[in-house]
Amino acid sequence: MIHPDVPALVLAPMEGVTDAPMRAVQGAAGAFTYAVSEFLRVTQTALPRGVILRHVPELRTGCRTLTGLPVQVQLLGGDAGRMGESAAAAVGLGATAVDINFGCPAPTVNRHDGGATLLKYPARIREIVAAVRAAVPPSVPVSAKLRLGWDRLDPIFENAEMAAQGGASWITIHGRTRLAGYAPPIFWAPIGRVRERLGIPVVANGDIWTIEDFRRCREETGCRHYMLGRGALARPHLPRQVAAELGLVAREPGAGPDAPVDWPALLHRLVEWSQEFPDGRPGRVLSRLKQWLSMAAKFGGFTRFDAIKRTESIGELFAGLDGRAAVGCLSSSG
Ligand SMILES: Cc1cc2nc3c(=O)[nH]c(=O)nc-3n(C[C@H](O)[C@H](O)[C@H](O)COP(=O)(O)O)c2cc1C
Repeated sequence: MIHPDVPALVLAPMEGVTDAPMRAVQGAAGAFTYAVSEFLRVTQTALPRGVILRHVPELRTGCRTLTGLPVQVQLLGGDAGRMGESAAAAVGLGATAVDINFGCPAPTVNRHDGGATLLKYPARIREIVAAVRAAVPPSVPVSAKLRLGWDRLDPIFENAEMAAQGGASWITIHGRTRLAGYAPPIFWAPIGRVRERLGIPVVANGDIWTIEDFRRCREETGCRHYMLGRGALARPHLPRQVAAELGLVAREPGAGPDAPVDWPALLHRLVEWSQEFPDGRPGRVLSRLKQWLSMAAKFGGFTRFDAIKRTESIGELFAGLDGRAAVGCLSSSG
């Protein structure tokens, strides 16, 4: 998935946002190298097969979205043994790569010894990565996703080293502490310093909202590998612009930062892909559409959120989007 000398652009895992239908939509745009699944939380027992398949249905289709984008399975948990068993179960179901979450800031997750809590215990990072590494075949890469630290920026140096010693093939760093949550500022420079010291690739992540942000992040980190989360959803042209800068796709003259976004077309794709999965109920799909547009209103250039935020059906939402009547079955589907 990540090769030291080959640039890559990764779709960030976002629990409750980048689910299988959204991963399919993002895959169709052709900018991403691969996507990371939302975290699968390993608690009292190793993950049952059914849970893994429900969260990562792409395992049934060669570990790729129906639009062809490879998907890496992400696990979260503090028990090395159960993490290893869960990784082995995922690989048994067809997972081709496993990522370990050491960054989730959710209080419930942290109280139960998972996600960013582990940033306080460097030796446990090594232990968990090593257990997962040992549990899956050598051909399956294992990676780790970290924040800079719990409440300071510098633990990343030791934690990154521990992940590498545990056998991680690469690491992804979100340039914030757990304490900072999602608040600015972002700190890209330490990501660059880790990259210089560590013998494995580093994927830079956090607050890339525009192509200018990407260029500054590249300047500060010197990385070849990047991960986009909220920016990819809020500004749908961004992934292809970044991919073009990385030399992954051809430049598109018409797709500059100010090019209009065809929101109805994009949202239709999400509706369509949602039908392919068991939880594609209209009410759920409607809230996913609003969630996407809310992100675009908050962080991108979408200006019609007030017109759609109280709509009660998918058809109504599409009508509110551009003032036109909704098309076909969508108008009556929920
Ligand atoms: C709603 C939401 C859910 C997230 N869920 C996950 C997750 O499941 N696993 C993970 O490693 N990171 C998760 N993250 C963090 C993102 O992967 C990413 O590191 C972070 O959003 C910073 O990147 P961005 O500024 O490009 O969005 C989540 C972030 C958000 C906003």
